[in-house]
Amino acid sequence: MTTLTSHPAAVLHGEAAPPGDKSISHRALILGALAVGETRIRGLLEGDDVLATAAALRAMGADIERGDDGIWRVHGLGVGGLREPADVLDLGNAGTGVRLLMGLVAGHAFATTFTGDASLRSRPMQRIITPLQQMGAQFTGRAGGLLPMTVTGPETVLPIEYRLPVASAQVKSAVLLAGLNAPGATSVIEPTPTRDHTENLLRYFGASVSVDDDDDGARRITLAGWPELRPAEVEVPADPSSAAFPLVAALLRPGSDVVLRNVCLNPLRAALFDTLREMGATIEIENPRQRQWEPVGDLRVRGGTLHGIEVPAARAPAMIDEYPVLAVAAAAATGRTVMRGIGELRVKESDRIAAMARGLSALGVSVEEFEDGLAVTGGGNAPVPAGAVIATEHDHRIAMAFLTYGVAAGAPVTIDDAAMIATSFPGFAALMNALGADIRPAGGTAGR
Ligand code: S3P
Repeated sequence: MTTLTSHPAAVLHGEAAPPGDKSISHRALILGALAVGETRIRGLLEGDDVLATAAALRAMGADIERGDDGIWRVHGLGVGGLREPADVLDLGNAGTGVRLLMGLVAGHAFATTFTGDASLRSRPMQRIITPLQQMGAQFTGRAGGLLPMTVTGPETVLPIEYRLPVASAQVKSAVLLAGLNAPGATSVIEPTPTRDHTENLLRYFGASVSVDDDDDGARRITLAGWPELRPAEVEVPADPSSAAFPLVAALLRPGSDVVLRNVCLNPLRAALFDTLREMGATIEIENPRQRQWEPVGDLRVRGGTLHGIEVPAARAPAMIDEYPVLAVAAAAATGRTVMRGIGELRVKESDRIAAMARGLSALGVSVEEFEDGLAVTGGGNAPVPAGAVIATEHDHRIAMAFLTYGVAAGAPVTIDDAAMIATSFPGFAALMNALGADIRPAGGTAGR
């Protein structure tokens, strides 16, 4: 395991371009694999999770190559045109990759077996099995709905109407991707809106998707089956969930001034920035623009001081991946920050509520853990007990959150395993160090 230590930094300065959005990257590859002709993707996240999705799609017959120009070219096979993979598909750490692909193959009349790393093999799949079984797919897996698991699609996929019992863009997307190969309209009803990249990209590739408000205020997304998807030119904006780390690091060092370029500001993703502003942060959006179907902008952040707040639970889906780094911001703020309504964090790459509570406690920060959340009482630049090493538990966001804390804490912070950072943010330490952070292996020098 590669340990990594983040040493306190004075200020952060400069501009950086965080890597491409993970959610959009998975979806662009998948839809490209279903469109006959050449889809070109610029800015694709070249992280392990997305590369695993690309490998899985190749194993099912899609032609996917990265050009020397950095552009990814996908030649797809048409809706329903994928072929049975000859081997098990190993999605590594990628929950989004595996759940979206399980939906996709549930719409194909062949058997596909999925597995993943220890983290992915412990994550619940029943949430996608339930609707996909209603569509006619069969599942054979480990007890409790765990990977490894084989999915066998039916000869004819049944279009369904499905109301999401948990706010999950992955479940919504799995149902819609299976519905692509159904003879009729598939509807997903979401009481709480979740990231809408699948709907947006489906439209962009030529599918007919309508989004309506039901009488009870829920969102109804309806996809007409058997669309002819057209190849597309996709430009992937920077991932707001990745931008969050250098952004919080800069916020916590007074005097810092950092610009993060070309960040996806989809309102269903960007609630962290509103939350941090409520805590006293100075975050401006420069050069706001519409890029293809997504609002994007450059985030300019200036360091200062933060104070604790109560984070509205209703906001959780629009910042679900940002709670680890928010907890770090809360630990460096003055006063108590309460984060509730986030029980879903217990079934992410790790139990993120427990991992943050354990890690922050080990660093001497006052934390209360609830079944559905966390309260953190910050004390400014908390002194870090010597020798504390944070367990990242196969979770990239836990790893990056604690390295971000190290930038602003009173002493260096060490994590036990940096490997998972490459799933979503290859080049994390280099980008942070170029801004003035000091993140390096024990005994090493900062890679700039
Ligand atoms: C994602 C949806 C979210 C999020 C994950 C990416 C997606 O998961 O946590 O990192 O791309 O659809 P859930 O659907 O489980 O909330």
